Amino acid sequence: MSAPPRNTTRYVICPVGEIAPGDRRIVEIAGRSIGVFNIHGRYYAIRNLCPHQGAPLCRGRLTGTALPSRPGEYHWGREGEIIRCPWHGWEFDVTTGKSLFNPHKMKVKNYEVMIEAAEGDDPSLETYDVRLERDEVVLYL
Ligand code: FES
Repeated sequence: MSAPPRNTTRYVICPVGEIAPGDRRIVEIAGRSIGVFNIHGRYYAIRNLCPHQGAPLCRGRLTGTALPSRPGEYHWGREGEIIRCPWHGWEFDVTTGKSLFNPHKMKVKNYEVMIEAAEGDDPSLETYDVRLERDEVVLYL
């Protein structure tokens, strides 16, 4: 587990088991709406505000994208890692916040998500499976 960022406030989102792979939770933190996603067992957080015209981006559909390939070939991949804005369909990579069509200039704010032991956990329990149920999804803002 890495150290929490300096000069930030810790926000516990929920126990790890409450956001299933492929699912998300939208939370209000410090006046911001933020979507926390479980993508293939890893957690990511992005602002619930599309940089195009302000739609609730995190309510969009999770999908994949066409992967780089040779002419005449079509390969689909990254299923569940791309979110499509519910208003006009712009697509963003949930793992980075970058847009697919203009990743160097268009981005939705993303946040680091950490998994931490719930307060009161005994670190010696780390090797037991039950430990996962007691971990929490945490954001620092
Ligand atoms: S508001 Fe998101 S694509 Fe237009």
